[in-house]
Amino acid sequence: MYLHGTSKINAKGHLEIGGCDTVELKEQYGTPLYIMDEALIRQRAREYMDAFRQSGLSYQVAYASKAFCTMAMCRLVEEEGMSLDVVSEGELYTALKAGFPAERIHFHGNNKTPAEIQMAISARIGCFVADNFDELHLLNALAAENGVKVNILLRVTPGVEAHTHEYISTGQTDSKFGFDIGNGTAYEAVKTSIALPHLQLLGLHSHIGSQIFEVEGFQVAAERVSGFAVKVKRELDFVFKVINLGGGFGIRYTKEDTPLHASVYVKAITDAVKRNFSGVYDQLPEVWIEPGRSIVGDAGTTLYTVGSSKDIPGVRKYISVDGGMTDNPRPALYDSKYEAMLANRGREAATETVSIAGKCCESGDMLIWDLELPPAKTGDLLAVASTGAYNYSMASNYNRIPRPAVVFVNEGESALVVKRESLNDLIANDVIPQRVGKQHSLKG
Ligand code: LLP
Repeated sequence: MYLHGTSKINAKGHLEIGGCDTVELKEQYGTPLYIMDEALIRQRAREYMDAFRQSGLSYQVAYASKAFCTMAMCRLVEEEGMSLDVVSEGELYTALKAGFPAERIHFHGNNKTPAEIQMAISARIGCFVADNFDELHLLNALAAENGVKVNILLRVTPGVEAHTHEYISTGQTDSKFGFDIGNGTAYEAVKTSIALPHLQLLGLHSHIGSQIFEVEGFQVAAERVSGFAVKVKRELDFVFKVINLGGGFGIRYTKEDTPLHASVYVKAITDAVKRNFSGVYDQLPEVWIEPGRSIVGDAGTTLYTVGSSKDIPGVRKYISVDGGMTDNPRPALYDSKYEAMLANRGREAATETVSIAGKCCESGDMLIWDLELPPAKTGDLLAVASTGAYNYSMASNYNRIPRPAVVFVNEGESALVVKRESLNDLIANDVIPQRVGKQHSLKG
């Protein structure tokens, strides 16, 4: 397994992350456990911020909180000077409760409810990324009711298909998101936004997909968006202050993945904006981006305890762990690949090819196929790398399995940032109506 960030094998032969021995983490917090390498998260954040600083442009790096949203994470994002992208009242609430500055929050989504918009207006968030005409009118009406003007970006689809998994590419024309540039919808949206008195149109937003390893998609998107901006300036005499080119920067899950350094993406994007707007705009627009996965993805490791195994001679050996698709639905959803190792036997040679099964009642609950491991025994610890993004945030209680705890580790110290769900948490919202199960009364 590739050792990301501060991960290393210590003198005891155990996997250590952030100076914390994973065997001790298991003793303290139990498994499954999400372990987040705080120093690596901060390093990733700084790589983007430094690259933008060098570009000389005004900028915002908004962490896409959908990748991993907890109050501690919001605090860390704030400390690193980033902005925050939220897509629901839940994410917004988490950020506000964590004391995240509202003016640095951007609200996304293709179906924001009136209640969500009201909550965001009351909190005075920085801007809404408006997705469709219904939303423009709803935003205008609610802003009017509140006696305010709200800042918006228009989410446009530039017609770029990122080279990534089909389910996670969103820049193409046939998408539920945004106003299409190619068919004139985006142009209409600009006119509508300018005409609606309670909207302040700041700029344009484009997001072309996720887990992208090339800069070309971003460059083409930047070109199309700026081409569109030039047309709007020429025909409507309207100038955008902000161009947001979204997130989607790829990370390493396995050796097949070849991510670029953040600075390479940022340079490609900022150069494209400079190239396309120079001579057209008096002042270059601010450039915003929204990395999610590439801030937290490779900083996360999930620790499991090995349970039972099943050897089918001549076919394969299944090793089961105490989690699965409930804490990591990505293999089942996207056929995602992961690397793993035995965290308590870090120096032992891999002599077996095994497949890692989750504990859910579903054959598709497989975490890794054909993994090289030392012979794993019940009680061993399995560490799966690069689980920091879209694992905790997409976790479920399928089979009524409680969600794991999350810890931040740094310089030899671990800190709980999300408690493990208890069995009582699982039934906390259950209600038994009077008319159900009358025959038997509950005891105890
Ligand atoms: N901005 C917008 C508008 C987005 O829709 C997304 C991701 C991002 C930024 C952040 O993208 P990132 O930098 O994290 O790639 N659940 C899937 C990923 C879905 C991404 C959805 N949008 C997965 O587990 O791979």
